[in-house]
Amino acid sequence: MAGSAVAEAITPLYSAETIARRVETLAHDIAAGAGPDLLIVAVLKGSFIFAADLIRALHQQGLRPEIDFMFLGSYGMGTTGGAVKVLRDVEAELAGRDVVIVDDILDSGRTLHFAKDLLTTRGARSVKSCVLLDKDVAREVAVAADFIGFKCPPQFVVGYGMDLGNRYRELPFIGVVEG
Ligand code: IMP
Ligand code: MG
Repeated sequence: MAGSAVAEAITPLYSAETIARRVETLAHDIAAGAGPDLLIVAVLKGSFIFAADLIRALHQQGLRPEIDFMFLGSYGMGTTGGAVKVLRDVEAELAGRDVVIVDDILDSGRTLHFAKDLLTTRGARSVKSCVLLDKDVAREVAVAADFIGFKCPPQFVVGYGMDLGNRYRELPFIGVVEG
């Protein structure tokens, strides 16, 4: 049988239908406060599916944003600890721009804080953030997202772009990894 050796149990948390409805609402909310020259910066890798759906929903809301990507990782390669580093930088000119950062999960807060700080330092006029999931954990760095898809329990989740060792990103739903 085709497939991989991975065998974690994944318990569904948010279905594809629930995510799709929420993405529509997020796009509506973002569009309500957005200027005409919006720049979306998706933080790779985990946000790629969320960002792809969100920008199409933004188009439906009448926005024509510019899209760029920023690949961030952390020193140490663990899920906790370590400073954030830029693995692939944005190419867009940031001076004077209204930016919305799109990320998958707000966990310790390090990644989002780093990204906001970097884009602000480069001269962006405004830097807002939109995260798919806001994990129910104590932040290590004080940062809040402007737009939040869903609350997330303090467990490891996968699917809809999010991974465990680069697996499970293809799942159309978000699920909790058991064990
Ligand atoms: P933070 O810097 O601790 O807020 O980390 C956020 C990043 O860690 C996210 O963008 C994810 O890439 C990753 N991450 C945190 N929790 C999870 C999880 O439960 N599943 C998959 N990735 C996660
Ligand atoms: Mg990430």
